Amino acid sequence: TAAMANYQTHEHDVIVIGAGGAGLRAAIEVSSRGLSVGLICKSLLGKAHTVMAEGGMAAALANVDSSDDWKTHFRDTMRGGKMLNNWRMAQLHAQESPDRVRELEHWGAVFDRTENGKILQRAFGGHKWKRLCHVGDRTGLEMIRTLQDRGVHQGIEVYMECTISKLFLDNGKIAGALGYYRENGDYVLFKTKAVVLATGGVGKVFTVTSNSWEYTADGHALAYEAGAELIDMEFVQFHPTGMVWPPGGRGILVTEGVRGEGGILTNSEGKRFMFDYLPESTKNDYAATEDEAKEWVDATINHKKSEARRPPELSTRDNVARAIYVENKEGRGSPHGGVFLDISYQDSERVKKKLPSMYHQFKELADVDITKQKMEVGPTAHYIMGGVRVEADTCQSKVPGLFAAGEVAGGMHGANRLGGNSLSDLVVFGRRAGTGACDYVDALKESPSINEKDIDAAIEELEAPLKREGGLNPYDVHKEMNQIMSTHVGIFREKDEMAEGIKKLEELKEKISRVSVASDKRFNPGWHLCRDLKNMIIAAEAIARSAHSREESRGAHSRLDFPDADDKKWGKLNSACSKDGDKMKLEHTELPEMPADLKELFD
Ligand code: FUM
Repeated sequence: TAAMANYQTHEHDVIVIGAGGAGLRAAIEVSSRGLSVGLICKSLLGKAHTVMAEGGMAAALANVDSSDDWKTHFRDTMRGGKMLNNWRMAQLHAQESPDRVRELEHWGAVFDRTENGKILQRAFGGHKWKRLCHVGDRTGLEMIRTLQDRGVHQGIEVYMECTISKLFLDNGKIAGALGYYRENGDYVLFKTKAVVLATGGVGKVFTVTSNSWEYTADGHALAYEAGAELIDMEFVQFHPTGMVWPPGGRGILVTEGVRGEGGILTNSEGKRFMFDYLPESTKNDYAATEDEAKEWVDATINHKKSEARRPPELSTRDNVARAIYVENKEGRGSPHGGVFLDISYQDSERVKKKLPSMYHQFKELADVDITKQKMEVGPTAHYIMGGVRVEADTCQSKVPGLFAAGEVAGGMHGANRLGGNSLSDLVVFGRRAGTGACDYVDALKESPSINEKDIDAAIEELEAPLKREGGLNPYDVHKEMNQIMSTHVGIFREKDEMAEGIKKLEELKEKISRVSVASDKRFNPGWHLCRDLKNMIIAAEAIARSAHSREESRGAHSRLDFPDADDKKWGKLNSACSKDGDKMKLEHTELPEMPADLKELFD
C-alpha cells in the first residue's frame, strides 16, 4: 500500500514539470510572486531541447529591418501556420516577444550585436524580415544558461533526474503528482495546488529525430490521462536539415541559421532545386534567380540595404522538408539519403564565427570541414505543433489547475511552426503560465488532497513490468513503434497506409501491456522505457488518428490522396483527442473566430 511504500513527500504551491525555456520561465514567475515552486526535470538541469533551437529567437525588434513590427510577425506566424493557429496566442506571442528578449538581455544573455550595438537579427524561413535575435548558433543554450542562473539565484527548488508518471486530482482539480528518481527508482510524491506542464515534445515516437531520450510525450500523456484535450496532433514538424551521416549522428539538428546566413541546397546533379518548389502563393516573396539570391546574401554579409528578395532555401520548413524528400525519392539525393547544404563558398572565418557549433559538430562527428566541404542533410522529426489545448491568456487547460506552456501546448503554431518562434513562445507563454498558475492558486478556496488509493494504483502500475516475468523487451517494442510511425505517418501520408498504421498501433498497445524488465529499480533505463512507452503510444495514436481524419493537406500534414488545402471545411477545424474510458475520442472543433481588426491584416 501507499502507506507502506517508501517515498519522499514534498509540498509546493505550484510544481513545474520540465525545465527547458518554458518551465524555467514559468518557475521564475511563480517564485517572483512569492509562492513556493518545485521545478522537476527528467534530466539534469540545463539539458533541454530548448538548446536545439540554435539559430535564434524571433521577435520584431526591427533592429536590422526597420519596417518590422508585431503585426507583420503575427501575420507571418499565421500564414506559416496556414491560419490554423489560435489567433490570440499568435497575437500575444508577436506582441510580447520583444519584451521577453529585452528581459533576457537584462538578466545577462549576451546576444550578437549590430555594428551600432543593437541586438543583431538574422533571416529564417517564412519570416518577412530579419527577425531572429541570436547568439551565433547557440541561442537556445544561452537562453537556458540565463534562465537557469536567474532561477537558481531566485531560490527555486529543483528536483533533477526525476520522471513524473501520474497527476492526481481532487474533485476534478489538480492535487499532486507522483514520480520516481531515475538513479535509484525511489518514489516521490508532490502535493500541490497547480501544475505547469513544460515537458516539450514527442520526437522519440519517430526513428529519425533531433530530440534526445527525454522527449517521450510525457506531458501530452499526463494531460490526456487527467482529462485535458490534445489538439492538432497530426501536425508534426520535420526540420528539413538534420545530419544524415554518420549513422550515429543521424537526425541531429543542422540549424536553419546555416540557410539564414546564405547556405545553399543542391541535389546530386548540382541543381539548386528549391527554386522549383516554391508554392505559387509565396513565389513573389523569394528571389527569382540565383543572381538575386546572391545579391540578398551579399547585402546580408555586408550589412547593406537591398531590394533583393530572400533565397528560396528560406521557404517554410514544411515545404523545404517535402522538397528534400521528393528529390531523394526521384533519385537525386546525396549518397546517404539527403541533399547537400553548402556554406563553404563564404569566408571561412565568417562561417566559424556565425556557426561555431555547426563547424565543430560536422568536424567531430562526420569529419567534414564546413568551411571547405558541403554538408549532407535530410529531414528529422523536430517538433510537434499539436498539444494540450489551453486558454490563450492564462495557459490553463480544461482541467482546473493544470497549465501547459511551450511545445507541450497546442494552438500557437497552427499547422506549421516558423523557425525561431519556439524560443519566443517558451518565454512568452512560460511567463503567462506562471502568472496563470499563481492567480489560480490565489483564488483557490480549499487546499486539495490526494487519495491514498490513487497513490497505490500509480505505484502498482509503475511496478508491473518489474514483477512480470518473461514479457516483451521494451526496446524491441519501441523500435516497432518507431517503424510504424515513420512508415505510416511520416512526411507524406495516405488513407490506407494510415489505417494500417492505426491497426498496428492497436496491436502495439497490447504488446506494451506485456513488457517486462529485470526487477531492480536502480539504474534501470529499461524500466524507465516501459513507462515512457505508455506515454508515447498515446501521442502516436493521437497523431495517427488525427492525421487519418484530416482529409486535406495543410502545413506539415501532407496527404497524397488529398494534395490541396480545404479552407472551407478543414481550415476552420481543430482536431481534438480526449480520453473516453479506455478509448481515444476524436472530435473536430471550430477554430476561434479572429476579430475584424486582425483579419484586415490578411486582406
Ligand atoms: O534550426 C534551428 O536553429 C531551430 C530553430 C527552431 O526550431 O526554432
